[in-house]
Amino acid sequence: MPVSLVVDGREVVVPDERLTLLEVLRDVVGVRSAKDGCSPQGQCGCCTVLVDDQPRVACVTPVRRVAGRRVTTLDGLDQDLAAVWAEAFCATGASQCGFCTPGIVVRLEGLRARGTAADDVPAVERALAAHLCRCTGWRTIVDAWSVVAGAVPAGASAEGVCPLPAWPADRDPGAAERRAELEGRTPQHVGPQVALGAAGFAADTAPPEALVAVPAAAGGWVVGEGLAEARARAGKVQGRRTTVAPEPPLAVPEGDWAAALRTSWVEPAYLETDAAWCEPGGEPAGPLANGGAFGAKQASPVVAAARRLADEHGRPVLALLAREDAVRLGPKRPPVAGGVLADGTGVLRVARTAGVVEAVAAVAPGLVVEELDVPGPPTSVALRGAGWVEAAVLVGAATGSPVVRAPWGAEAEAEVGADGSLAVRVACGDPLDEVVLRSYCIGAAHMAASWVTSEGLAVDADGEVLDLTVRSFGVLRAADTPSVHVEVDRAAGPPVNGSDAVLAAVALAVWRHQGLPVDWPTGRPLRAR
Ligand code: FES
Repeated sequence: MPVSLVVDGREVVVPDERLTLLEVLRDVVGVRSAKDGCSPQGQCGCCTVLVDDQPRVACVTPVRRVAGRRVTTLDGLDQDLAAVWAEAFCATGASQCGFCTPGIVVRLEGLRARGTAADDVPAVERALAAHLCRCTGWRTIVDAWSVVAGAVPAGASAEGVCPLPAWPADRDPGAAERRAELEGRTPQHVGPQVALGAAGFAADTAPPEALVAVPAAAGGWVVGEGLAEARARAGKVQGRRTTVAPEPPLAVPEGDWAAALRTSWVEPAYLETDAAWCEPGGEPAGPLANGGAFGAKQASPVVAAARRLADEHGRPVLALLAREDAVRLGPKRPPVAGGVLADGTGVLRVARTAGVVEAVAAVAPGLVVEELDVPGPPTSVALRGAGWVEAAVLVGAATGSPVVRAPWGAEAEAEVGADGSLAVRVACGDPLDEVVLRSYCIGAAHMAASWVTSEGLAVDADGEVLDLTVRSFGVLRAADTPSVHVEVDRAAGPPVNGSDAVLAAVALAVWRHQGLPVDWPTGRPLRAR
């Protein structure tokens, strides 16, 4: 049966009622601001739209349910209002890769329109519970909310209202992008367009006539005329999770250690799942369009698949991973188990990973590294600070030094306040753009606090990952994330990455604050309630 609905003021008639609203928006109407971060799990919030002014997750909404209804995407918001949101997100550093942001803006705009007060932070944090942002650490998003809701009261028009000087104002876009590239370790766009979802992600820029390729259940890739067809042919059931608790896979070596640590498998949980597209005989547009996924996409299989399949089929091909594929196939930081004496010497066991011995030696030459074969997903030292951060945290805990020094010289230290708030100091040369640097440091602080207290992936004895949904990764929600104060040490010097040092310093501070329990995640909340 055909279904008709109104999308951003335009009547749309869809011939197939079995499609989801997200499939209709992206593949039929051509909307690109509604993103697919986990379909069909309905858990990341990236595809949030308003249906008759109420937020809905489009990837789990059958289009027949919205027959005759009014659907508003980010593209359909009043353009003045959208510009206000975009400027606010840019000015507060509330968007980095920008993949999660359009859905968040849509939900927050729905909240604002219903009259929520600018200072009602708990209401905003509750609203954000429907979303996942891996980059920003939530606090800057709450800042952006306060700016917009304070400037544009519910019911008022946004015409002519811009609560902030339009970008770039007193900022240097080149310097901002340079700082973002240092922190993200891949070229990054910075600007209001990022918050509007227009950072050029591969799944958004692929030509409409491209075939879509997805991994098949039996291995290899299958192609279809669209994502729905390709997934149907792949023969996979998506969206599984487990109630099995994550377990650190390695044992701490025997010893009378001043500090001992075991880490679990954790998922980098980047929001834009791997995507690349290619014309026959062409060069693939890769998965690093605006975000490095914390190093996890460096060797993504989608690039080679898009190139090969485009050549085979003589048509452009978009190769895509679903959330489950990304969890199963994507690299993780190698789990460790180690013990360190008060003089900084000790033993660190680590899942065998190319380059990890050198990574540890760069910050902790007193550690003997034992590499062990551990059944599990692939590991990589390309993951943010993998190996050296664990070593630095363990040595810092044993020796009592709160200062962490990255292999390239950046320094950071952190402290946890009585209310769980975090105070961070970072020295990483010329800040270049303090908004961007602060944003990455807050994001790293969130990642560290989350890693120590709540993140883990259950992996069985055969190495099969059991936690496959976005909500099962244990990433701290906005309501559980403490405030983060960042002090930038403006010591002269060439700019270097600072947020990886912050990751280590905050992990150390949080772990120490919790009394140095051996196993991560500790399962103990950080934010006082
Ligand atoms: Fe939220 Fe990247 S900005 S996931």
